[in-house]
Amino acid sequence: MNHDKMINISTKRGFLWPSFEIYLGVSGFTDYGPLGAILKNNIMQLWRKQYIAGEGFYEIESPTVTPEEVLKASGHVDNFTDPMTQCEGCKDVYRADHVIEEVTDLEVEGMTNAELDKIVKKHKVNCPNCRDKLSEIWNYNLMFKTNIGAKGNKTGYMRPETAQGIFIQFKRLSRFFKNKLPFGVVQLGKAYRNEISPRQGVIRLREFTQAEAEIFVDPKDKSHPMFNSIADEKLVLNSQATQIEEKDPITITAKEALDKGIVANEVLIYQIYLANKFLNEIGIPKEALRFRQHLPNEMAHYAIDCWDVEVDTDRYGWVEIIGIVDRGEYDLKSHSKYSNKELDLFISYDSPKTVSKTIIKPNMAKFGPSFKQNAPKVKGFLESVTDDNIEAIKLSIKEKGKYISNIDGEKFEILEEYLKFEDIEEEVSGEKITPHVIEPSFGIDRILYSVLLHSFHVSDSENDKDYFKLVNSIAPIQIGVFPLMNKEELNEIAIKITSNLRNSGFRVDYDTSGTIGKRYARSAEIGVPIAITVDYDTLEDNTVTIRNRDTEKQERVKLNDLNEIVEKYFN
Ligand code: ATP
Ligand code: GLY
Repeated sequence: MNHDKMINISTKRGFLWPSFEIYLGVSGFTDYGPLGAILKNNIMQLWRKQYIAGEGFYEIESPTVTPEEVLKASGHVDNFTDPMTQCEGCKDVYRADHVIEEVTDLEVEGMTNAELDKIVKKHKVNCPNCRDKLSEIWNYNLMFKTNIGAKGNKTGYMRPETAQGIFIQFKRLSRFFKNKLPFGVVQLGKAYRNEISPRQGVIRLREFTQAEAEIFVDPKDKSHPMFNSIADEKLVLNSQATQIEEKDPITITAKEALDKGIVANEVLIYQIYLANKFLNEIGIPKEALRFRQHLPNEMAHYAIDCWDVEVDTDRYGWVEIIGIVDRGEYDLKSHSKYSNKELDLFISYDSPKTVSKTIIKPNMAKFGPSFKQNAPKVKGFLESVTDDNIEAIKLSIKEKGKYISNIDGEKFEILEEYLKFEDIEEEVSGEKITPHVIEPSFGIDRILYSVLLHSFHVSDSENDKDYFKLVNSIAPIQIGVFPLMNKEELNEIAIKITSNLRNSGFRVDYDTSGTIGKRYARSAEIGVPIAITVDYDTLEDNTVTIRNRDTEKQERVKLNDLNEIVEKYFN
């Protein structure tokens, strides 16, 4: 790993570029150059392949500008904050937990502002820029605020996560999935967070790309049909216990992790496995990955369990690149409460069940004279009281001899003699439930950075070169086609080969400039897996050479077989 060299080449060769550079730049933003944009799309395509084709999930696309009501309900308006502090001298601002961790080496994520303030005082944490005193810490909301409409009277925010767009369409989605659980919905797109003084390149952007899957499951059944097939897969887990006891992460099979209660359910562990598989397939080695469970005090406001996928980096240490969260019923319940719409699902049992319940039998003859024209209204209310409320009415009558009901804003005093409670048995075919949501949330930019870092081969001898050893499935350019010399008779064949391969769907770089050695080196540097060379033998015997980027071995093949060989190599 070598962050500086890697960034240097990726900037020079068109992967990552600083944004707004000619206007001196703004931190927290990045441009993807021509190769970076293809690489990013390739990673997203593979992600879609795994979750849409592989898991049978469906993708939707919702707006990035989001009205305030949605984010009030989701908890982001009130809770989506980071602890902030400002230097009393130079007025620079800092994310308090980050500046403390930098200076003291303590782990402080999840601590309250008061606890952080204490550490600042105790360890004399000063401004990293001018060494002056830091202010008291306060909560800073990370969302970009905007106005919707010309009158500017409707507040909106740029979405801080893609997930909310899925939750608020739950009713339509559940109909789409024929009201059957589990089902998975994904969204890939931009998310925005106005991060406090971001200084970590693509690791901490203010505008970044997420790929999220929201998997709606029955709260009573978090099993996964494919669990047995992954039960023996090994995972590196840094659980709450290993962190609290300051032990090293453990390597453990999926089944053991479940049996020992380290990971709470099959869906969650299956998602951990899938994330691991995806990252390995795009070139991040197993040894560079670990899964860290959030400690209770650092979980997001909506989470009941959370595992971060962390990647080893030389510059930034272990960095979270994916969060895998059990969001429980938090989002659906909250949107249901705020929107006043039912966001639940009727689940049919395999066969009807007999259940005992208490019902209310109103006695109209007793309360009719008191409530007069309102009597039918009170009767309707008593007959439709839900199970939970029956218990409340029972308790109130037992304790106070009456229950005060609020029907359409009007209060009615319900006395004991107005009703009877009756225990009955009833056959029911199913029940209404609020599904739980398990969410893998991938940060594509951090993943792309990790791919570049871990595929970057640093030269270890004079003959060797630095290059991106990108895996075939994501290399932005798959094939280099080079005429040995820039001569018309060779170029003509090379152009034909290029055109044929492009028509077959390959991304091909046709290059005639410089010596063949330089062209091999240039194409290897940006990760092109193979190079095809047309030389003078080609004119004689219709053969070309295929050179492998990693082994540097060359193989002579017949022109007629070229397409088939290349197809095989990449598929
Ligand atoms: P951090 O603690 O590093 O701020 P987070 O816990 O807020 O990250 P999540 O809210 O779990 O991150 O977001 C899901 C994923 O989105 C992360 O794993 C990460 O890959 C990505 N992500 C979050 N914030 C940023 C950012 N500012 N820049 C780039 N990617 C981000
Ligand atoms: N959807 C998880 C997050 O972005 O916080």
